[in-house]
Parts: sequence; structure tokens; C-alpha cells
Amino acid sequence: MQIDIFTLIPKAFEWMCERRPLAAVLGEALELRVFNYRETTPLSARQVDDEPYGGGAGMVLRVDVVAAALDAVYGGIPKRRLIALTPQGRQLDQALVEELAVEESLTLLTSRFEGFDERIVEQICSDRVSIGPYVLSGGEIPAMALLDAVVRRLPGALGSEESGLIESFSEELDGGLEYPQYTRPAEFRGWKVPEVLLSGNHARIESWRREQSRVRSAK
Ligand code: ADE
Repeated sequence: MQIDIFTLIPKAFEWMCERRPLAAVLGEALELRVFNYRETTPLSARQVDDEPYGGGAGMVLRVDVVAAALDAVYGGIPKRRLIALTPQGRQLDQALVEELAVEESLTLLTSRFEGFDERIVEQICSDRVSIGPYVLSGGEIPAMALLDAVVRRLPGALGSEESGLIESFSEELDGGLEYPQYTRPAEFRGWKVPEVLLSGNHARIESWRREQSRVRSAK
């Protein structure tokens, strides 16, 4: 899979590249490129944003700046899913993650300040995605969340100890929440691990976990 990210803060993505799951798939199942709008802006003094028409607070990312960045990288608007991270988007859930994880390539556009000139999302992007009903100061954290969730689905992303896990929202749990997990010590300050998990009886453990998952999901 090939993922491109356009941002004003390329540094924000550096740490992710050194950690799993990203580090495990970089150069293998994933090619990742991060571009800074400021490097290709047609405006002077590396300007990328401007005041909103009609007045109001904050600055808006300019459509000509985004178009110039896409021209520089693709020679125009590419025919691939081009996703604007914005609170007005379709909310990211595991179904959308699975949908995106099977794409050959993705482009993520982030903005800061008051967001995108509407023509960017209307005319240039194929999708708009939100990571939840709240407003962050920029699209970098949402892009990181989307990237992490998608990359986990790529072959080789998870270590063997993780990949065997039955996760929240997975088909194994009928899309429900994961059951509670415990590790040593079996008792701490009087707080005990459920007896069934210490029993060594795999059938009982399995059915306890499914029940817990059902109860949690229902709640
Ligand atoms: N940019 C600011 N807030 C956001 C959100 N909740 N989701 C996606 N992009 C955003």
C-alpha cells in the first residue's frame, strides 16, 4: 500500500515511523511519503493560508496551495482516494478502516487553523473523514489515528503475540468490544483476577470471554 500525507507539520509523523506497527511495514507492505504544503506553495514567504471571506476568526488553508502541492507530487489531482481530515467528515470506525486498508493507495490532506477552503473538499477530495464529534486544532492527530488503524491491517504489521489477539470490533467478537484482560500478579491489594482465567480450562475461559464481550458491548 502507498500512503501520502500532506501537512504543515511533517515532524509530527516521525515518531510513528520508528514504532510498530508502522516501523514493521515501512518499505515492505507500506510506502509512506509526507509532504509539506510550504515546500510547494506558489505564494511568497511560504504562505499557505488566508483570512476567511466574509470575515471571522482564524485562517483558512488555500485551495491554490493544495492544488500546487498535488501538482508537484502527482502532476494534477490523482485518481485515488484523497481524504480530507475534518470534523465535518464521515466518522472513522472499524468498517471504514477495513474499507481503506484494502486500497492500493491513499492520500491524506490535513489542515490547521479554521480548516480547508471548501473548494478543497468539494472539488479535490474524494472523502472527508472525522475521528470523532469534537474539534482538534489540526488534522495531524486525526491523520495519525487513521494511519495507525489502517496500517495495523497490513500484512506483517503486528508481532506474532499481537496478531493472534481477538480485538474489539473484530468479526470474531461479532463487531463487539474486547473482553477484559489480566496479567500477573493474580492478586494485588486484594484485587483478584477472575478465577476462571486461572483454571486452565480453555473451554470455560473461551465462553467466559465471549460472555464478557457480549455484556460490555450491550452496556
Ligand atoms: N480536524 C479537527 N478536528 C478534527 C476531527 N475531529 N476529525 C478530523 N479532523 C479534524
